[in-house]
Amino acid sequence: MTRSATLTYGDKRIELPVIEGSEGELAVDVTQLRAQTGLITLDPGYGNTGACLSTITYIDGEKGILRYRGIPIEELAERSSFIETAWLLIFGKLPTQAQLDHFSARLTAHAPLHESFKHHFEGFPVNAPPMAMLSAMINTLCCFYPEVQDMTEEDFFEEATRLVSKVRTIAAYTYRRSLGLPFIYPDPKLRYVTNFLHMMFSMPFDQHIASREVVEALNLILLLHADHEQNCSTSTVRVVGSSRANLFSSCAAGVCALWGPLHGGANVAVLDMLEAIHKGGLSAEHTLEMAKDKKSGFKLMGFGHRVYKNFDPRAVILKKSADKVLGQLGVNDPLLDIARRLEELALKDSYFVERKLYPNVDFYSGILMRAMGIPTNMFTVIFAIGRMPGWIAHWKEQHDSEGGRIARPRQIYTGPTTSAYVPVSER
Ligand code: SDX
Repeated sequence: MTRSATLTYGDKRIELPVIEGSEGELAVDVTQLRAQTGLITLDPGYGNTGACLSTITYIDGEKGILRYRGIPIEELAERSSFIETAWLLIFGKLPTQAQLDHFSARLTAHAPLHESFKHHFEGFPVNAPPMAMLSAMINTLCCFYPEVQDMTEEDFFEEATRLVSKVRTIAAYTYRRSLGLPFIYPDPKLRYVTNFLHMMFSMPFDQHIASREVVEALNLILLLHADHEQNCSTSTVRVVGSSRANLFSSCAAGVCALWGPLHGGANVAVLDMLEAIHKGGLSAEHTLEMAKDKKSGFKLMGFGHRVYKNFDPRAVILKKSADKVLGQLGVNDPLLDIARRLEELALKDSYFVERKLYPNVDFYSGILMRAMGIPTNMFTVIFAIGRMPGWIAHWKEQHDSEGGRIARPRQIYTGPTTSAYVPVSER
């Protein structure tokens, strides 16, 4: 059944097609709006605007549903791994054992960085923010693998695998650089997450092999962060990729967008907020009052979401994992108790209830990473490692979309109308 929406404006009356997604979502297709009426739409922040059709991830914000290629996040969290989920997102379905073995072997092969990379790291100041180094060095991959600029369909597997593998090595090296420690080469005998933690925490003659609990917890964190449809950083990757910019540069741009405290940087901001409460500068009650006071400019970090108007299913899973892993590791973190207290108060407070503000993925992830010994300045870097498969999948989907038009929104101009140039002597 074709559906349409009627728009009447002045003496004009037009029918705009309404399209329906596979889960029943409806959208007014305005691709012909300007041609037929001269009107454009205006939607700052794009809260009501669909940018594309996508088959990768589905979110129902009202019901707290998240599915990667149709598979519920709860099932993947319970039964899959980050690398298997990366394949699912990038190539569209769960891999066979042979595909998984091949993917794993190529990830191992791609783990080392070109030796010249180290000179670039040495050029950064020791206190350089890891996210700045991460985006710069991902873009630098284009210098060492220029073939990515003319990538064919056949090349895509290797370039995507290269990026999923090397983002982990680059991330570990940003950490080592920040502490002035020697870079640790990837160990081909270790699997993805264990190898990352080895590169983070080993010393030249003292290999660090992370515990099963820590490896499982980091696998879960990366899997839960792997994609989230048209979030700010993924939309950035699609916009940059729409100009036909290469895969590495587009994902480097995604790192920059993720860094913001309203997005991926929130996991660091949550820890800063909990630490401030713990150190006595703030009480949980006062923190909530500040978050409710618009004049304060303060937001309850780790709470609220553009799409979820219910619990973020990832936060539910991470909260359970934090309880379990901190118990397994024998960590008694007072910040977890403060987080629980904040959540309990907020969920009873009308300001948060009326606005449907619930804990999001960032509320508990930082506590879990801190318990695993991950330093706070690496939290958003870990988020970027997790999100890389999603960015790659969306870059490819945008690249392959029929027409693949360059993203170029319009605007409503509100500046000065025609004005004459005034010579400086007369100003
Ligand atoms: C991520 O998009 C994604 O999918 C992102 C992500 C992913 O996986 O990629 O899920 C990851 O970025 C999670 C979000 C992490 N950010 C934070 O935790 C920062 C704190 N949250 C807020 O900044 C905010 O909730 C956002 C940025 C997440 C969402 O912003 P929106 O959709 O623009 O929400 P809004 O500003 O329109 O909020 C509606 C109302 C406003 O009040 P009123 O004007 O109606 O009175 O809710 C208030 C807001 O002031 N509000 C908050 C709040 N979040 C929203 N008030 C206090 N504290 C908050 N955290």
